[in-house]
Amino acid sequence: MSVTNTQVGIIGAGPAGLVLSHILARAGIDAVVLEDRSREHVEHRVRAGVLEQGTVDLLDEMGLSARLRAEGLVHHGILIGLDGRRYRIPLSDLTGGRAITVYGQQELVKDLVAARLAGGGAIEFEVQEVGLSGLDTKRPAIRYRKGGRACELRCDFVAGCDGFHGVSRGSIAPGVLRVYERRYPFAWLGILAAVAPSTDELIYARHERGFALHSLRSPTVSRLYIQVDPSAALADWPDNRVWQELQLRLGTNDGWTLTEGPVLEKSIALHHSFVIEPMQHGRLFLAGDAAHIVPPTGAKGLNLAVADVRLLARAITRWYRTGQAEELERYSERCLNRVWRVQEFSSWMSGLLHRLPDSDPFDDRIARARLGWICRSEAEARS
Ligand code: APR
Repeated sequence: MSVTNTQVGIIGAGPAGLVLSHILARAGIDAVVLEDRSREHVEHRVRAGVLEQGTVDLLDEMGLSARLRAEGLVHHGILIGLDGRRYRIPLSDLTGGRAITVYGQQELVKDLVAARLAGGGAIEFEVQEVGLSGLDTKRPAIRYRKGGRACELRCDFVAGCDGFHGVSRGSIAPGVLRVYERRYPFAWLGILAAVAPSTDELIYARHERGFALHSLRSPTVSRLYIQVDPSAALADWPDNRVWQELQLRLGTNDGWTLTEGPVLEKSIALHHSFVIEPMQHGRLFLAGDAAHIVPPTGAKGLNLAVADVRLLARAITRWYRTGQAEELERYSERCLNRVWRVQEFSSWMSGLLHRLPDSDPFDDRIARARLGWICRSEAEARS
């Protein structure tokens, strides 16, 4: 068995694990990242793509935003489609200049991996059979196999950043965690298309046939979504049917046109809210999707993951510098305050924009009145 010693063992090279490894490195704390997929795989996995101001500010501070600044698309507002009309929510004007940046998660992952490796950081890809032990001791261990060889990473802390399907959460003894969960009665069918976006800003449309979203990835690649039934299969949705539905739901009365193009990728994502409490057990700290999932409507998942690891890195740094565990002890509580606020926002925004399968025409009028009010009232829009 090959044994390695480090200070922090990080499981998962998604945004949470990678950003954590960067912040710790800057504080002079040694960490090893273990990832079960290949570098190629994580760098090409199409996921989220909206970075909030706080996330971009952190990447700026750490000198990790050069390509994001050059290639990311900065948006100062979003558009709401309702009853064939478009309304603009001027995000920056309403929030003292804050903006959102559209930059694919896989691009961010590429930047974070390259910078970490260039800085001499350790990221082990393609590890198998990851298992945790000694979480209640001062020196927990992560066992895994790499290229058929048995390995063990001994550390002071384990950061479980291995997403919703990872192993970290399941290593906590039964009965310790409380799970809060909600499944929504709709899903998103998303396409990535090789066509210039037909809009400069994201369009969120509420339509009697269901929700649609026109997002952007680059000047030549568009990302579009439609609300579908959670039981829908990709086979039911050939490209021409997807475009037809997008045309209907995003269409306006004033002759705006949606340009179609070749579909590069197509997938269906169920809407799911999930939170575990607490986000910590012994020396294991969970962050990002390993601890919580939000429906994608508010585009909060990636930003929440970054917010978690920022707090975690600060707490760990404090522990090494002063020996004080107070911030580590409060990690879960502080993260969960934000997580629940974001769950509230994301489920509210989902309800506002989607057509629920069991809604009647009365519900539909109420929801449209609520959305219309947000579009027309500055105070509502700011809130
Ligand atoms: N061992 C090692 N790595 C693992 C294991 C395992 N057993 N299981 C999963 N992983 C890896 C995954 O391959 C992935 O690279 O952990 C990483 C988790 O990354 P994400 O799922 O992207 O989660 P996170 O870093 O928390 O980022 C949050 O997820 O909500 C979505 O797209 C949204 O941007 C958001 C992101």
